[in-house]
Amino acid sequence: MVFQPTRGELPARFGPGVPNVPPIGPSTLDADVYRDPQRYELERHRVLNRGWQIICRSDQLPNPGDHQVWEGHGESVVITRREDGGLAGFHNVCQHRGARIVPRSGTGARKFTCRWHNWAYDIEGAVRGVPDRPDFDRDVLSGLCAPALDLDEWGGWVWAVLAGPGVAGPLPDWIGQEIAADLGAFGMQDMVLTEKVEWVVDVNWKVCVDAFSEYYHAQALHQLPSTDVKDARHSTIDVFGRNGMMVVPVMGGLEELRRTLDHNALATCNYVLFPTTVVNSTRLHTQVFRAVPLGVDKTRFEAWELRYDTDDEDYLDYVEMSWELYKAIIEQDVEEWTDVAAVARSSAYRQSVLSERECLITHFHRVCEDMLAGGDGLGLEPARESDRQEA
Ligand code: FES
Ligand SMILES: [Fe+2]
Repeated sequence: MVFQPTRGELPARFGPGVPNVPPIGPSTLDADVYRDPQRYELERHRVLNRGWQIICRSDQLPNPGDHQVWEGHGESVVITRREDGGLAGFHNVCQHRGARIVPRSGTGARKFTCRWHNWAYDIEGAVRGVPDRPDFDRDVLSGLCAPALDLDEWGGWVWAVLAGPGVAGPLPDWIGQEIAADLGAFGMQDMVLTEKVEWVVDVNWKVCVDAFSEYYHAQALHQLPSTDVKDARHSTIDVFGRNGMMVVPVMGGLEELRRTLDHNALATCNYVLFPTTVVNSTRLHTQVFRAVPLGVDKTRFEAWELRYDTDDEDYLDYVEMSWELYKAIIEQDVEEWTDVAAVARSSAYRQSVLSERECLITHFHRVCEDMLAGGDGLGLEPARESDRQEA
């Protein structure tokens, strides 16, 4: 029996009374947000390190001492499964003279030793062993640690905040109750990872997130049939906190969706989880897309395919075929980025012109802007009709 996601008692995200778009409207966006190196440096500290982001699947750390090394936007971190089943994590940077401590992911570690001069660390990142300890200043060594991460698990994923505990608030608040419930209905924690694909692309990380935050390009780039494009005009888009959500009727499913309003069963549900993750769920399977910045104009773009855990062969065959189609479509997006990269520095690229249906991009960049200015990126959603009536 294959799991069937359903909206159940959750709020309708499609149908009567649900607007197609939030009142964000069309906008323009300065081209420099994608190419200014100073801005990229600021983004590393104020946006990327201060938000929750995916590290790996929880089941990649099944036993105590199992560890994952994750690297992106100039940072290297280690996350380890503790004896008590929780997680420990720290920046993978030796506090002696700044070498990377753990070169690669592994299993069953009790401590980590930096190979340069053999300083030893416990799994929390505290310095435990220093050869020739009396030669050092005791006060400097006292309590010395590699800086800790904030860690949590949700949806079968390990999440981290690189700037450390307390900086981004709790993960459930970051995801937000609306999206946690809506995306939660798909049960990602019970899914099986079947494939992860990676590309290194010559564009800014936000180009990748933006490309998965709108449906507008589906007709031209992906050549979708015009009936599906027409049905997709009935999609709904909304923003919650820093994040966004888009509900697109599945091919041929519009009439039934109108009748049942069960978008979890009959739509492609797209969740933009600020800053670097986009989740794409249908009743059959889920893709998680993630942009890992490597430089102002270099990004590792990752896609994970998750399916339900069953041995129903018809389901498995169908999902495998569907994922192969998805991969071909993602390749088209990745290929398109070569044309974006070719003119990213052109004097003629001054701004992007965004439609009201590209409003998840507008919202995303407003959140980014607010965090760059030192804010928390919250409170930027336009007031809803229901809020106005209550006020
Ligand atoms: S740099 Fe790591 S032990 Fe010296
Ligand atoms: Fe696409």
